[in-house]
Amino acid sequence: MNAIMRDPAQSVVYQIYIKSFCDSNGDGIGDLPGITSKLDYLAYLGVDYLWITPFFPSPQRDNGYDVADYCAVDPVYGTMADFDELVAEARSRGIGIMLDMVLCHTSDQHEWFQRALAGEERFRRYYILRDGHGSIGPGDPGEPPTNWQCAFGGSAWQWEPRLGKWYLHLHDVSQPDLDWTNPEVREEMAKVVSFWRERGVAGFRFDVINLISKPEVFEDDTEGLGRRMFSDGPHVHEYLKELVERSGIDGMMTVGELAATDLENCVRYTNPAEHELGQVFSFHHLKVDYAGGDKWALAEPDIARLREIFASWQEGMQAGGGHNALFWCNHDQPRAITRFGGRGQVGKPGGSWDHVGKMLAVCTHLMQGVPYVFEGEELGQTNAGFASIDDVRDVESLNNYRILVEKGASEDEALEVIRERSRDNGRTPMQWTAGPAAGFTTGEPWIGVPENHELINVEAEQGRAGSMLEFYRGLIQMRHTLDVVSRGRVGFVEACESAPRAIVYERWLEGDAAAAARAAGQPVRLLVACSFDAEPCRVKPVRADGGVVALDGAEVLVDTYADDAVRVGEDSLELRPHEAVVLSLA
Ligand code: NOJ
Ligand code: CA
Repeated sequence: MNAIMRDPAQSVVYQIYIKSFCDSNGDGIGDLPGITSKLDYLAYLGVDYLWITPFFPSPQRDNGYDVADYCAVDPVYGTMADFDELVAEARSRGIGIMLDMVLCHTSDQHEWFQRALAGEERFRRYYILRDGHGSIGPGDPGEPPTNWQCAFGGSAWQWEPRLGKWYLHLHDVSQPDLDWTNPEVREEMAKVVSFWRERGVAGFRFDVINLISKPEVFEDDTEGLGRRMFSDGPHVHEYLKELVERSGIDGMMTVGELAATDLENCVRYTNPAEHELGQVFSFHHLKVDYAGGDKWALAEPDIARLREIFASWQEGMQAGGGHNALFWCNHDQPRAITRFGGRGQVGKPGGSWDHVGKMLAVCTHLMQGVPYVFEGEELGQTNAGFASIDDVRDVESLNNYRILVEKGASEDEALEVIRERSRDNGRTPMQWTAGPAAGFTTGEPWIGVPENHELINVEAEQGRAGSMLEFYRGLIQMRHTLDVVSRGRVGFVEACESAPRAIVYERWLEGDAAAAARAAGQPVRLLVACSFDAEPCRVKPVRADGGVVALDGAEVLVDTYADDAVRVGEDSLELRPHEAVVLSLA
């Protein structure tokens, strides 16, 4: 039986990093049947769509983001029959499956690249091949064609004698970029997306999709590492429109992952009139703790900057008719709860772990857009605390550890940076139980399980009042049931000098929508106040036009401290350390 899928505007998406979610056969690697076995849990949590990271055949140099065959299932993750069963079982619970489309590059093991290596001209034209800078003729590599750096450290170009050219790889050397100026490539990609749509998936996430259009002229970036030369390139909107139209996915649940993008482009990507994408992931808010913009240099999060970013993206996308994906965590990020100060009393109620986790959840789940929950975030899973570089698996982390040491850091110093910044922090197994390997596998997990799984796990939190899991469940229900959350307008307010580390915004309904909500006894205007401060603060909300927000008569809808002790005055509100409060305004 097919249940009806929820409208994206009222939906919450759950991201599954397949390798680490649930292992059904004891080989230590999560798989498709493992996901199917946990659908009742996901239905209990209340999520509407599951974005599943790539499970296609792959040499796994970048954990599946190096695809060797787009239209098959890697045997390590199961079979096509397992996939069909997952889709059907999810659908019967009202849950849609979203697939991860990695269309910017292939694996070097993909048949297309192999045939290019073998000299087939047709497939050489699938990739971006160039002569070297200063090359004196065939066979002489010279220098890389430009100074662009790849995302994982080092040059974005690789000399390949079998091609007699350098090939571009914006990620790992094993991930050659496809040439989207070639109409055959665009057609192949539309076929891939159609293939999965026809198999019954409900939506798609598009990996680094704003990198598919490279500049007309390849030249050195004199100001940086090349990013600005190939992000949101000249034909990106045209290629996306073509892809969407040809594959028949307009109006489906889609989200693009965008590297180093800007607001103007994101409005275009997601305004429905453009027929490109449903929502976008942008990453500016997750760089507020990069010292000088360098991911591998540690700093405390700059909350004033975070507030500015949220305000400009929320209000700017609203003004342009665009749509944000809302998130703190994914498989490329350290765990936000650790990052924003939740290191105290881990796994227990009442400390900074508990307060930061819930505050972060309120902060994004009440915004305008579609919230994404990353596996384990709803439990309060933390960074892994890697004790040795040998415990780290990720290619980006290992490359950058080496680069830090080459630049003169001691091994301990380099490890400290990797411990905070490694993508593997988000990739440790989902914590199901307090038992061996956190109930993720009966075998040896492919990556270590944090010790705190003894306290932080589904078994301990499901059905326990006040747990992180139940708190997330409540927020998901709010988006399903309250129009002001799913459809309301958004506006940021100043929190005033006594609360420099608070982020405060309003959501409200207007006109008929407001009247309908009022008639249904639903709130019409909310004030959401989130303190990122480890000290208490007083918020006196003032709108952009100078108007004071009247708080008398406000009703407390959510309080992360849950003790009925919220202190609301006529025009100000006290927040305790890392507290978040949602008020329904009279
Ligand atoms: C973004 C993915 O999320 C990340 O895991 C991957 O390494 C790169 N894109 C390259 O595909
Ligand atoms: Ca397995």
